[in-house]
Amino acid sequence: MTVSSSLPPTRLARSDAASLIKHDDERTGLFGCFLDLFRSAEKKEQAGKLYQALHEHKEADFRGYRDTGFLPLVRFCLIRDLAAPEQRDAFTITQDGDTTHFRIDGKTVFKHAFPSNVIDAHAFLANKGNNGTLPATSDVKTLIDHYAAMRIQRRFRAFRTMLCQRREDAAKRGETFAKTTGSDNKTYYFNALAPKSRVVYAPGTRPQAVLKGGFKHVTGMDRRFVALAPNSPGDTFNLSGPQPALPELATLYSPTVVENRVMIVRNAGRELWEDIARNIIHGSGEFRQALLDLRALHRQGFYLTDVKPENLAFDGQRINFIDTDGHVHKSRFPAKVIHSPAYTTLTLYLGQCDTEQSPAQRESFFQTTDEYGLLMAMIGATAISPEIRDAWWNSHDPSTDLTRLGAMNDANKAHFVGWIARHGKPEHHENLVALLTHPARFALDRPAGLHLADMLKATG
Ligand SMILES: Nc1ncnc2c1ncn2[C@@H]1O[C@H](COP(=O)(O)OP(=O)(O)O)[C@@H](O)[C@H]1O
Ligand SMILES: [Mg+2]
Repeated sequence: MTVSSSLPPTRLARSDAASLIKHDDERTGLFGCFLDLFRSAEKKEQAGKLYQALHEHKEADFRGYRDTGFLPLVRFCLIRDLAAPEQRDAFTITQDGDTTHFRIDGKTVFKHAFPSNVIDAHAFLANKGNNGTLPATSDVKTLIDHYAAMRIQRRFRAFRTMLCQRREDAAKRGETFAKTTGSDNKTYYFNALAPKSRVVYAPGTRPQAVLKGGFKHVTGMDRRFVALAPNSPGDTFNLSGPQPALPELATLYSPTVVENRVMIVRNAGRELWEDIARNIIHGSGEFRQALLDLRALHRQGFYLTDVKPENLAFDGQRINFIDTDGHVHKSRFPAKVIHSPAYTTLTLYLGQCDTEQSPAQRESFFQTTDEYGLLMAMIGATAISPEIRDAWWNSHDPSTDLTRLGAMNDANKAHFVGWIARHGKPEHHENLVALLTHPARFALDRPAGLHLADMLKATG
């Protein structure tokens, strides 16, 4: 039977046909034949709907099968379903070696080489294709679902077997993490002791600029993860630090040490210091969650000790804490505390290290240090006027005077007060002045239970 000769003459206006095929890059193939078949006016509406369906959600549903060539098969079957029953015989598929030919009325409209396992596993092309008839669309969909499930299963099983083996090997070597490098150039790490914990990877892509702190530098990063190594060749990371692990909070980017010299942490965005140096002004609302999280941390007895613009990152929405691996907990205050002289004061630091004082007093020094660092970073990032920016830059250079008190002093007071008036809650202006002027004294005098988050408007 020749389908085209039995069809009524073309009644679909040219412009309609053009609009149907406008975005179709297969116009000379499958859809060219499709239009030829359905040129009758009564089929026009149906054809239009099908065309929409194929190009909207239906197509999206099958997007995952594109690599196996199933999408044209589905389209082919859907189009076939639209044809009158006596026309359906005109739709055939035949196998020619590895190539499957989709034919309408004997004319090949599409060719595809299916992966051999599709053919082996289902034998559908061999059974049904070779004798020329197509399975029903619903059968094809079921088939595709089975095939997809099977592929996932196969991959997953092979992956699980590989993973179990690597985990066992790692456990035998006394390592916590099993690793494998994928073809994507990422090194994946699986926790051998806690199989349910999240998989992390070290990205293979190097950062565009050098990202380096005093102790470690970034060796690879992508949108999701950052991998860091110690700067000094002889240094290693502590696999299990002496401090209790930090709680999980939204703005806290805690690293996982996966090897002696590899640490992985989620990408928290670009360093805030970069923005301050480039005069990019941030909104105080971007600090809101960080302020709340710092308060939550402090309430649980955790302190970060080295909060500063270099250890904060902006992800486009909010400011996050990075470089948190030097954190301390009140249950074990260390003898030496990681700190940055520019963002603390000598007396504040000595207060943190002083074992003679009461635990509450010492905690107050730790809390005040974190808050002073975050407040300074916030002022640097949010200050608008050039005067306050200048005052900020000149206020915390530790090389000028190691024994200086806080950043705010008689000479620059007016600028800082301006910022406080804008961002501080009125009832806490005095506290903010005290914190910025002489943080160590503020640590001794501060009202119990008060946090930086309580003093600023940013937290509402
Ligand atoms: N989670 C992260 N997201 C984005 N960048 C990061 C992250 N962790 C570190 N970096 C970048 O790497 C630099 C060095 O890392 P950091 O942990 O601060 O090392 P150090 O202990 O040497 O100060 C940071 O200043 C920052 O630019
Ligand atoms: Mg750092």
